[in-house]
Amino acid sequence: MRFHRGSIRSVLIIGSLAFKFPQINPLKALHNIIIALSWKGEMTLRERIYLTLSLNDEVLNTSQYYLFRGIRANLRERRFYKSSRLSILVPTYFSLFGLVNIQRAGDIIEMGIDDFVSEIMKLTNNDQSIHDDTHTLTNPANYVEMDGHLMIVDYGSSGCRNYLMKWGQEIYDNFLWFRIYS
Ligand SMILES: Nc1ncnc2c1ncn2[C@@H]1O[C@H](COP(=O)(O)OP(=O)(O)OP(=O)(O)O)[C@@H](O)[C@H]1O
Ligand SMILES: [Mg+2]
Repeated sequence: MRFHRGSIRSVLIIGSLAFKFPQINPLKALHNIIIALSWKGEMTLRERIYLTLSLNDEVLNTSQYYLFRGIRANLRERRFYKSSRLSILVPTYFSLFGLVNIQRAGDIIEMGIDDFVSEIMKLTNNDQSIHDDTHTLTNPANYVEMDGHLMIVDYGSSGCRNYLMKWGQEIYDNFLWFRIYS
């Protein structure tokens, strides 16, 4: 049994399965609501309340974000896997309303980000759209080795989808491990 803590989800690995639980932070959410209500600035009270209750990818520091970001990532992950079945996606078998996702567990890869990104860039004609979602796509911690292939475990953001649809098969088929370890 192993435990990993991401920025929005906590993951328990039991045997060949990964159980992904959303992190929910009601104290930070409450703190943000209080700030929104008390802050005296350019915006009207209505605008401030709307902003802190909105769940917008561009605005991370909102109350909704602290409550639902992990749930939303879990729901998106299951939906993306179900609708695309891309080879590069580690299978997400099940989601219980986003409160827990069950994914196949893979082996964590230990490599520097520079070597990792450089190998990906070679396979993708140096496609800069990897930076549409740098947080997800360039972080080796979001990938595992499975059946000799590089696969991704963290695909619950909307920003990584187009890139994975465009390059996922190429990366899955041709990611060369020996370049990393040599
Ligand atoms: N299916 C899996 N198999 C093995 N390890 C996994 C799996 N899913 C997640 N992990 C581990 O748990 C960590 C956190 O999971 P994940 O990246 O999905 O969470 P997150 O909170 O969305 O991440 P981030 O911190 O990148 O926002 C991963 O970096 C990885 O080490
Ligand atoms: Mg991650």
